[in-house]
Amino acid sequence: MTSEVTLRRFTNADLEEVMNINRCCLPENYSANFYLDIYRNCPDAFVVAEAQGRLVGYVMCRTESGFSDFVRMRPVRKGHIVSVAVMPEYRRLGIARSLMSSAIAALSTYGCSEAFVEVRVTNEPAIQLYRKVGFEVVRRIPRYYYDGEDAYVMSFQIGSQFWTKS
Ligand SMILES: CC(C)(COP(=O)(O)OP(=O)(O)OC[C@H]1O[C@@H](n2cnc3c(N)ncnc32)[C@H](O)[C@@H]1OP(=O)(O)O)[C@@H](O)C(=O)NCCC(=O)NCCS
Repeated sequence: MTSEVTLRRFTNADLEEVMNINRCCLPENYSANFYLDIYRNCPDAFVVAEAQGRLVGYVMCRTESGFSDFVRMRPVRKGHIVSVAVMPEYRRLGIARSLMSSAIAALSTYGCSEAFVEVRVTNEPAIQLYRKVGFEVVRRIPRYYYDGEDAYVMSFQIGSQFWTKS
């Protein structure tokens, strides 16, 4: 990631900018309360990227309980990557990868041993990003999105430390 970009934790004052990035980058948009609920659930894993005095990217997560995607029938605490986006003019600089690393480190402090994310099966940039961080496809959910597109669920074992790889 370039040196002009810094990462820090989200604050309530960032809400409008984060919502604007989300609207620019993704068809899945949310109410203000949704973001604030996510923040209250997992404040350290809501991370923003700042460059030239404005926000250019974010990742937000929540913690959930469920069965492991890696060990059959083992109950685990999981970090759900709810949304990640980087403004088009700041892409391919390593910002999303740094945001993901930062979020995963925070999820680990919340006791999560796994992280997962849903991604459109045609969203190649995001699929490649998650693969690079160490996620793998564990299942496909038919018609997951409002427009009928399928999702892959991609999961990651936090203890594997793959995300620290350069
Ligand atoms: C997906 C997204 C967050 C990636 O952000 P980014 O800051 O450009 O990603 P990075 O620069 O950290 O890229 C890390 C790796 O991801 C992969 N990647 C990122 N963009 C890619 C693209 N357009 N094509 C192929 N691989 C890509 C590459 O492996 C890349 O490593 P490299 O640059 O060393 O080859 C960004 O494209 C985006 O905001 N897309 C719209 C929102 C979205 O789809 N979010 C995910 C919803 S599930």
